[in-house]
Amino acid sequence: MPEKSCEWPGQKALSAPIDVAQLGRFNCWIQWLSLMREGRKLLYFLDSEEYEEVVPESDEKKRLPRPSFQQPVPEDARLVNLLPPEDLSIGRAPFLDLVNSRRSRRKYTSESLNIEELSLLLWSTQGVKQVPKSGRGVLRTVASAGAKSPLETYLVINRVEGLDPGLYRYVSFSHQLMFIKSIEDAEETLGRLAYDQKFVGTAPVIFCWSAVPYRTEWRYTILAHKFIAIDLGIVCQNLYMACEAVDLGTVAIGYYEQHKIDALFELNEDEEFIVLIAPVGRYRKEKALTDFFKYPKKEVTPDDLKRLEGKYKRNNLVEFFVRSGSLMLKIGDFEEMLESYNESEFIGDMSARAMRFEFTDDGSPARIVVLTADDEEIELLPV
Ligand SMILES: Cc1cc2nc3c(=O)[nH]c(=O)nc-3n(C[C@H](O)[C@H](O)[C@H](O)COP(=O)(O)O)c2cc1C
Repeated sequence: MPEKSCEWPGQKALSAPIDVAQLGRFNCWIQWLSLMREGRKLLYFLDSEEYEEVVPESDEKKRLPRPSFQQPVPEDARLVNLLPPEDLSIGRAPFLDLVNSRRSRRKYTSESLNIEELSLLLWSTQGVKQVPKSGRGVLRTVASAGAKSPLETYLVINRVEGLDPGLYRYVSFSHQLMFIKSIEDAEETLGRLAYDQKFVGTAPVIFCWSAVPYRTEWRYTILAHKFIAIDLGIVCQNLYMACEAVDLGTVAIGYYEQHKIDALFELNEDEEFIVLIAPVGRYRKEKALTDFFKYPKKEVTPDDLKRLEGKYKRNNLVEFFVRSGSLMLKIGDFEEMLESYNESEFIGDMSARAMRFEFTDDGSPARIVVLTADDEEIELLPV
């Protein structure tokens, strides 16, 4: 290949070589910048002139064999049939309700999922509607660039009625689950693999999507990776919406130990690797803040804030102090700014969802009730 075609036209300024060994050093921010800009190239499309010049001829154009759009299923595989979409009696919630209520949910109860729920989630995220005769792609319940479907769905099943716990793969062409193997301490393992986001392991089912990049590269060569990322976002959003429709909760988890999770599923990383995780479970509905807050919303004066300063105790020592006109909560090294609702009630968004101060007749704080992120009301006592 001629040398000029290895460079992106018009981007010579960005092409300073990156010295990876230097990246850890404090004074090499310019290298980081350069790396960041390299990363951005993933996201912008080339105009047609550049496309001709830069993008290598695709394997599709070279008439190389098309990739398979499903990983092979061994003849002796243990397969479980899922409920076909026409037999599902769940998941018919009004669309706008789902859009409005969708959010990431990270606290799961110990209840199991059932096969109908799992069938709905898998159908919604990767269900196959048609395999066109041309063999050039697959039509699914989700859009995919060129219908190339570069994703596979792996599951860690902790609690689904009627299924042995373990690792599974969704065999989308036949809408079945394939058992892979059992694993020890799934809850702890998955929490650890998600960089200690322990809630991940507590879910009854954990979706782990892998990418098989060649399926998309076969046609789109170096543009494939943007498309794969978009395909993944679409799939994940369908999981959010399907969960929302049946009162399940999920959250996209992009932060996990790449090689370890690939090794867990015994993936050949040259061809396939995990690209996103999403635990799914039943969640407890949060208490409405208005139930917790008895009084109307009101402006807070600096004097109101001042009288809330102090130290309180339950399991931890909790301190409240005022900084730059805001009430701050401090537990150990952790600090959080609380938003005032009125002069005795505050809203937090990390360790506490809400906080209510009650006062003695002489105006000093008598008790503080905290509505925790788990929706428990706990009382802090003055030290
Ligand atoms: C690509 C991606 C990666 C994410 N990774 C994590 C993660 O590792 N841990 C986590 O708790 N939330 C993660 N989230 C969830 C976001 O924090 C969440 O969507 C965001 O805070 C907005 O909240 P909402 O989804 O409730 O609207 C991720 C979301 C996306 C889209």
